Amino acid sequence: MNKAFVILAAGIGSRMKSDLPKVLHPLGGAPMLIHAMKTAAAAGAERIVIVTGHGRDRVEEAARAFDPDVTFAHQPEQRGTANAVDAARDQLADFDGDVFVLFGDTPFVSADTLDRLAAARVASDVVILGFAPADPGKYGRLVMDGDRLTRIVEFKDATDDERQIGLCNGGVMVAERRTLFDLIGRITDDNAQNEFYLTDVVELAGKAGLRSGVITCPEAETLGINARSDLAFAEQVFQNGRRSEAMENGVTLVAPDTVFFAHDTVIGRDALIEPHVVFGPGATVESTATIRAFSHIEGAHIAAGCVVGPYARLRPGAELADGSRIGNFVEVKNATIGEEAKVNHLSYVGDATVGDGANIGAGTITCNYDGVMKHHTDIGPGAFIGSNTALVAPVSIGRDAMTGSGSVITQNVPEGAMAIARARQENKPGLAVRLRERLTALKAKRKKG
Ligand code: UD1
Ligand code: CA
Repeated sequence: MNKAFVILAAGIGSRMKSDLPKVLHPLGGAPMLIHAMKTAAAAGAERIVIVTGHGRDRVEEAARAFDPDVTFAHQPEQRGTANAVDAARDQLADFDGDVFVLFGDTPFVSADTLDRLAAARVASDVVILGFAPADPGKYGRLVMDGDRLTRIVEFKDATDDERQIGLCNGGVMVAERRTLFDLIGRITDDNAQNEFYLTDVVELAGKAGLRSGVITCPEAETLGINARSDLAFAEQVFQNGRRSEAMENGVTLVAPDTVFFAHDTVIGRDALIEPHVVFGPGATVESTATIRAFSHIEGAHIAAGCVVGPYARLRPGAELADGSRIGNFVEVKNATIGEEAKVNHLSYVGDATVGDGANIGAGTITCNYDGVMKHHTDIGPGAFIGSNTALVAPVSIGRDAMTGSGSVITQNVPEGAMAIARARQENKPGLAVRLRERLTALKAKRKKG
């Protein structure tokens, strides 16, 4: 069966007390909405429609940046979850298959759970994701008759007896497209909140002779984010999940609680991650690489056998070939570091290509920015850059060439050449001693006078 997903993301999220739309608050380095989009994609979504309202432009921009194929439906006023899904009616008018509803603020529903939901559609026209939370709080309650779901009652509309029900609505629903929109068309706002409740689909289905069923998942999957404290808790859940997953995949984490992952971090088997390493989005660490303590890595690819850090910073576009070495207090941005090349100490390498086996001395800076534009530095294979060299881009250093330490290199250096670009040293015999004597005498005279 084809699958379409409607992700609700129009709500204001007032409890976040934020100017940023709630679904754009970051979780694992990505707007939380992206997590629902990834789950939908992993579950085999043919189409994804995101319902936007509050902060519409920003939400759409962020979603599109992640997946250009996603489409949007606008819900001008937030009149309830059924009203929100209804906004996607026209977009899906030509869609043949099942429509899943997800919430943009519920990031942990797994693709596996969605597969089970899809499978349960064989026996039921409408399937709801239920869960039994430790504290059912204000969740909607699932009213069952055997294994049939007869009704969902929102907490605010529930009787005392209904509030005793432990099985709650996780917010995910699936039904065939025509069924879903037919039923939604019949929903009214005659309830405690004067909203159009999506949950009314269940009772209306029963009246139409259709069957509703429930499948359940662990509470951790239906965790919704409403306030900053929920966001912090969700981040913790996310990080713990990623740490366990990395270790299960054969990655050594010396101090797991101090390593932070992004939603898309990829780490290969037998990689070693020392304490206090932070991964921003877009990082890949291949098998057998070592990331030493206190490094920050984002948008970077680290090949097998590399050693990075301690205290290294890899920024977007850092591409480290096999066995290369990035040492302490080195920043690399938009630069390729060749096989076995070394940038061991206190350097900035940006907008550059460093050839295989090159050695970049301590304190080397690629001066890539002239205040207006960025320029490239090309360092050939086997080159040796002396300590404290400033490479004023655009500039290229030929294969096996050298620069004298302290040089400011503004012209290309040919293959095999040695470039020295600093004042020539002059030694004045005895001058140090004479100078010290003169200054000492001067000081003594001043003290007396
Ligand atoms: C909803 C369910 C409740 C369930 C709970 C699980 C309904 C009526 N209730 O309640 O049974 O236990 O989720 O977390 O569905 N949204 C829109 N437009 C709207 C209203 C909401 O886009 O007009 C979006 C929100 O941004 C949010 C999601 O839908 O992402 C859920 O809305 P929310 O108001 O949080 O629903 P709950 O009251 O939590
Ligand atoms: Ca909610």
